[in-house]
Amino acid sequence: MSNSLQTIHISHISPPADLPRLFKSDKGRRISLGAGIPKISSCLVTDPRQGSASAKPVTRESKEVMDTERNVLVGTYARAPVVIESGKGCKLYDVDGKEYLDMTAGIAVNSLGHGDPDWVNAVVEQASTLTHVSNVYYSIPQVTLGKRLVECSFADRVFFTNSGTEANEAAIKFARKFQRFSCADKKLLATEFIAFTNSFHGRTMGALALTSKEQYRSPFEPVMPGVTFIEYGNSEEAIKAIQPGKTAAVFVEPIQGEGGIYSATKDFLQALRTACDNAGALLVYDEVQCGLGRTGHLWAHEAFGVAPDMMTLAKPLAGGLPIGVVLTTERVAAAISSGDHGSTFAGGPLVCHAALAILDKIQNSIFLAGVTRKGFYLKDLLLKKLGGNPHVKEVRGFGLIVGIELDVQASPLVNACREAGLLVLTAGKGNVVRLVPPLIISETELEQAAEVLSACLPALDANASS
Ligand SMILES: Cc1ncc(COP(=O)(O)O)c(C=O)c1O
Repeated sequence: MSNSLQTIHISHISPPADLPRLFKSDKGRRISLGAGIPKISSCLVTDPRQGSASAKPVTRESKEVMDTERNVLVGTYARAPVVIESGKGCKLYDVDGKEYLDMTAGIAVNSLGHGDPDWVNAVVEQASTLTHVSNVYYSIPQVTLGKRLVECSFADRVFFTNSGTEANEAAIKFARKFQRFSCADKKLLATEFIAFTNSFHGRTMGALALTSKEQYRSPFEPVMPGVTFIEYGNSEEAIKAIQPGKTAAVFVEPIQGEGGIYSATKDFLQALRTACDNAGALLVYDEVQCGLGRTGHLWAHEAFGVAPDMMTLAKPLAGGLPIGVVLTTERVAAAISSGDHGSTFAGGPLVCHAALAILDKIQNSIFLAGVTRKGFYLKDLLLKKLGGNPHVKEVRGFGLIVGIELDVQASPLVNACREAGLLVLTAGKGNVVRLVPPLIISETELEQAAEVLSACLPALDANASS
């Protein structure tokens, strides 16, 4: 299989309180736009250079939610000042009725957008039949989803979890157990892990230990010991680090999301595969963000043609309901016994039935070809509309996971876009705009997004001079 990585270089620089009850929206207050202004938002800023300085005042309804949140929730999130109330397709609406074009998809989750009718029907149908039974009993949706995932991947078996970090936590345990199971001389037991710069694998103690950002880990140390970080893409260093009797597994994202939309290459993944095989270590792909159609391939690693021993999935699989999965070969699964791991909620009938509705649509080759086509179109638009701006260093990505690297912090641009009715994310060191829209997004909506991004670019200068 060919490496279809698409990188467009613009320059030569490489590399609960009962809250809903309190608030009523007034959709009638949406304001229509004049000619020539992208028809996204009820309040596209007239002068994007003002950026967040021109932010619309926070309304009483929004303020009540924000104040309550500040008083009752643990302060882990630095949220944007928007209270989202509803969504349809690629549009979101706040409590004041303002419309946003959603290029975030709930951080690469809502692949079919908001309120996909087939997904809604699946959820309603299953919720009224059976929602939860625990893993004490068999349930049909769990077994059906497991079979479907096995049929459409490298894997022989699956283990369900409730989130991406839990899937990685399970993969860590499976790797440790596999090494214990297969190692005859316990003095040579491999217990350590390799991860990479810019990696993000989650927030629980094991997955956190594999996450490269120092500031995520250091307040909670000691995290799981025995993790070595290697430069992402550096095959030579990785080969040296992957050692028999030492390395239990290598965790790698085929395309890094949070880290800044960096893609692996076929050669890099092949070097990891060979080094793992030589050392008796396991190769684990974290496709929590880049998997399940986002790249235009069902699995991101298909573009490189190098198979892992385990793969973790989560975000888009159940269309917004919490789910995670470890997919694994029989060789690894054979090391896992009854009682080694488990979860009360994981693989429940509701999420699994919802996931089957998602797979039905995303697995379709016409749907996947559409993601590839729209990915090219988006990068082309961004190149045309943003390429001349001196702050824009590179547009990169694969399908509908696209990063715009800037030479400054992206937040003034992200804020100005939000004011203009476009939701985008940051990534990397805060200098990358991350676009991970619903995979159902239309070409017209991509044009609108590029138009708003372009119109809001002056916010980067407004910020620099202030
Ligand atoms: C690649 C990757 N792995 C793991 C995670 C953690 O997933 P979750 O937030 O569901 O625990 C994320 C979340 O952004 C991710 O991007």
